[in-house]
Amino acid sequence: MENDKPIGIFDSGIGGTSIWTAIHQLLPNEKTIYLADSKNAPYGQKSKAEIVALSIKNTEFLLKMDCKLIVVACNTATTNAIQELRTKYSIPFIGIEPAIKPAATNSKTQTIGILATQGTLNSELFNKTAEMYQGTKIIEQVGHGLVQLIESGNIDSPEMTQLLHSYLDPMIEANIDYLVLGCSHYPYLIPQIKKILPADIQIIDSGEAVAKQTQNILKEKVGLASMKNGEPLFYTNSNPKVLSEILGNKYEIIEKKF
Ligand code: SIN
Repeated sequence: MENDKPIGIFDSGIGGTSIWTAIHQLLPNEKTIYLADSKNAPYGQKSKAEIVALSIKNTEFLLKMDCKLIVVACNTATTNAIQELRTKYSIPFIGIEPAIKPAATNSKTQTIGILATQGTLNSELFNKTAEMYQGTKIIEQVGHGLVQLIESGNIDSPEMTQLLHSYLDPMIEANIDYLVLGCSHYPYLIPQIKKILPADIQIIDSGEAVAKQTQNILKEKVGLASMKNGEPLFYTNSNPKVLSEILGNKYEIIEKKF
């Protein structure tokens, strides 16, 4: 049955598992297939044409596995390629965009920070969204090096702490009261970020919102799984150890060339 087909989720690497976790918690009956394109990570410094080509390659892999809907669990791929994917394929695509709206709407200091990749901050989609909140000062910061450290398993390292300080200290100085995490890898840095930010600065990531949107689109357009229909599958084209570790070593990781 159409409803019982899997949901496909892809990211440039392991960071999109933060989105996968939110989806799996909200929709435990759904079978999910997660694709980590870690061999090509990070996407954040690639050209739009490269990001579109990689997103198409990942989509083709998930379509061969008969996915009923695809979640682009990567901000850089969403902001650069989701329009092309929606034009080329007929199944629904859910993207992950930096949560500027709740931050800008609720900010009391009218100053918010966003930490994201170069590719996301340069994208037309991000800039159009930011333009809608001109009364709010948006401090943009590229998280150079963060994805590489996460992908190499160095989340909790002195180098990470040093980089985070260099990106966040100026935002604290500028009096932000919201920090938007604009990359699906960054939720894994929340414990370190919380050690740096004063407690009254809120951190916003998009995992739950993406899971709810996935649920809504399934209900409206494709159908929810009628019963629990299988364990999640995880594919990677690079070192499976890091993906396994970020998932608490609870799942088998399938290594495959793609
Ligand atoms: C990257 O691959 O550079 C980061 C992925 C993201 O933007 O979510």
